[in-house]
Amino acid sequence: MRVDLRLLAAGAVAAAVTVLASCGQGSEREPAGQTLARKYACLSCHGQNGEGGTGPAWKGLYGSTVTLQDGSTAVVDDEYLRTSVINPSAQIPQGVTVPMPVNPNVTPEDLETIIEYIKSLANA
Ligand code: HEC
Repeated sequence: MRVDLRLLAAGAVAAAVTVLASCGQGSEREPAGQTLARKYACLSCHGQNGEGGTGPAWKGLYGSTVTLQDGSTAVVDDEYLRTSVINPSAQIPQGVTVPMPVNPNVTPEDLETIIEYIKSLANA
């Protein structure tokens, strides 16, 4: 029996596409920042769609006023988000019981893309 390798290859590609498409809802259309946040495991604490978990929700975070543990308040802007990831212990929100680990692998470019994603959830 003669096996057509091209057909086999086409089948493998189709199967891979099916697996990718079924992985998470609308993974092909999701924002780049969401994909990166999953890659860096941010979503395991902040929720698959930024709804929150061990860490605070990203939904509605941008532009909001956060009360910090020392009683001071901070408006969440780009700088706040950047500091939250680079130096999480610098500004710990009230009511939080666990610290956020620093992830030294996040590149500055990827961080900006993730920040764009968090900003897009401002009114979510
Ligand atoms: C192990 C769980 C965990 C992981 C993983 C994690 N975080 Fe967090 N994150 C937290 C916790 C807990 C806080 C609140 C305490 C703090 O700020 O240190 C927080 C705070 C934040 C805040 C500020 C939220 C606020 O309300 O002030 C941002 C922004 C943030 N994380 C982004 C990220 C990004 C981006 C990543 C991935 C690179 C990430 N986090 C990975 C647990 C996590």
